[in-house]
Amino acid sequence: MISDKYKHFLEWIIYQIYPRSFYDTNGDGVGDLNGITQKIEHLKELGVNAVWLSPCYKSPNVDNGYDVSDYRDIMDEFGTLEDWKNMRNALHDRGIKLIMDFVPNHTSNQHEWFIKSKKKIPPYTDYYYWADEPLNDWQACFGGSAWEYSEERGQYYLHSYAVEQPDLNFDNPNVREEMKSIIDFWIDLGVDGFRIDVIDQISKDFDGNKNRFGPHLHEYIRELFGREKTKNIFTVGECWATDIDEVIRHCAENRNELSCLFQFDHIEHGKTDRFTPAPFTLKAIAADISKWQTLTVQNGLLYTLFMDNHDQPRFLSRFGNDKDLRYESATMFAGMFYLGRGIPFIYQGQEFGMTNSRHEEYSHFRDVENKHFYHSQSGKLQKSDVLDRLNFGSRDNARRPVAWNCEKYGGFSSVEPWIPTYSRYQEINLEKDKNSEKSIFEFYKKLLAFRKNSPMILYGAYKEITGENNDCYIYEREYQGEKIIVVCNFEKENQISCPYTQGELLLTNYNRANNLNGNYAPYELAVFKI
Ligand code: GLC
Ligand code: CA
Repeated sequence: MISDKYKHFLEWIIYQIYPRSFYDTNGDGVGDLNGITQKIEHLKELGVNAVWLSPCYKSPNVDNGYDVSDYRDIMDEFGTLEDWKNMRNALHDRGIKLIMDFVPNHTSNQHEWFIKSKKKIPPYTDYYYWADEPLNDWQACFGGSAWEYSEERGQYYLHSYAVEQPDLNFDNPNVREEMKSIIDFWIDLGVDGFRIDVIDQISKDFDGNKNRFGPHLHEYIRELFGREKTKNIFTVGECWATDIDEVIRHCAENRNELSCLFQFDHIEHGKTDRFTPAPFTLKAIAADISKWQTLTVQNGLLYTLFMDNHDQPRFLSRFGNDKDLRYESATMFAGMFYLGRGIPFIYQGQEFGMTNSRHEEYSHFRDVENKHFYHSQSGKLQKSDVLDRLNFGSRDNARRPVAWNCEKYGGFSSVEPWIPTYSRYQEINLEKDKNSEKSIFEFYKKLLAFRKNSPMILYGAYKEITGENNDCYIYEREYQGEKIIVVCNFEKENQISCPYTQGELLLTNYNRANNLNGNYAPYELAVFKI
């Protein structure tokens, strides 16, 4: 059973905005907050009721805002705090909640704290991890050693990500006080929740030689989010928890920690590392989704239903057919995820089937994570192989500007954008999709409206019933004696036996009046009421 405290979150449908690439209103090639305000009708029309905004704080943008230099102000390129307030009001007026991205694990090296810490100016001396010699052989996520020498201080500091992203020392109580007051600052400004960046890393396990899940993790999370002031807000942690007990420790209601976590198992398929493809099956992906959904539901927890975010190439391109069956696979995936039990997250552009992009020059890539890969491969792989790998795995795939229409730069901006435009924007853009007979956007609208109006989908129990069938995924949602069955076909043609095909066909991505005796077409989705 899910508690009342959590149950209402099941009604949220969250749309993630990566502001840099959403919509540019002042013609500088960079998306901005006014751009979000101007596009609220789009969100309303789609039917979402919450926005997760990737970081918009002051930042030198080494990692596109995930390197914060002032947590209480807005990045110049995105606008001002006044613009932010206008955006907040516009969202709230339209019934859309606002979730800010909170980045506690590290700051920018341009943050005042780090500048002073390098100079050993109190109280900032120990705001970061400093040591005379690297304390271990940890590697930074974007390549190289996680320890960097500072000439100025004559010591090494820890950075789990880029050199310009020093890790904060949470064992210092002053750091925790700073973080609480930043959280409170935004709560006082009316935000409805936070997505918390790499929360599992705020306590390091130096003794156990792991840079996440340290001995004080839960104590610190509670200190930040288990307070009177934070008790009603929504929190979702980016956390690489791999077993259910770990998730329970973060999210069980009596823990006073977080509302939910992202589980990533299902998007780890199809690669051996970020830039190297590997075989996959949709059945194995569905099995992960099913496993976590079952476990979270059993434990009265909230599951997060997502396929895309700003750190992943597009799910549709990785695991679907983004060519001649783009509509079919995009809409089947929508049903596979968003009729499940949990909180839907939709990443910008996904709602009309944006795919990965194709670029033939390294200069078309921007992400800090690509750089290390590119330089480490030079001399090892052919140039064309390196580009294939980047096109396959780069996070830039999700960060190309949203293609609103067929105009130059996809209608994102009147000038050349900060990152080269999505390579398929002439073929795939919102306007064109809306005017096409098979509109992914129209299907999303229908599906989300269906979800909102169905207590079975919102609150119902979840059970997988795929059984002995070939490549497909079938699940059942049940609430107060009523049932809905969702059938997702993964094969080109498939004879699926499902005891419920006599039911009323409520939703389909093919033009059918009934289920045709269990013969399923490629990527067919069918939703029956029993
Ligand atoms: C998270 C963010 C990612 C960022 C990293 C460092 O994984 O989602 O975009 O690069 O943290 O902040
Ligand atoms: Ca702009």
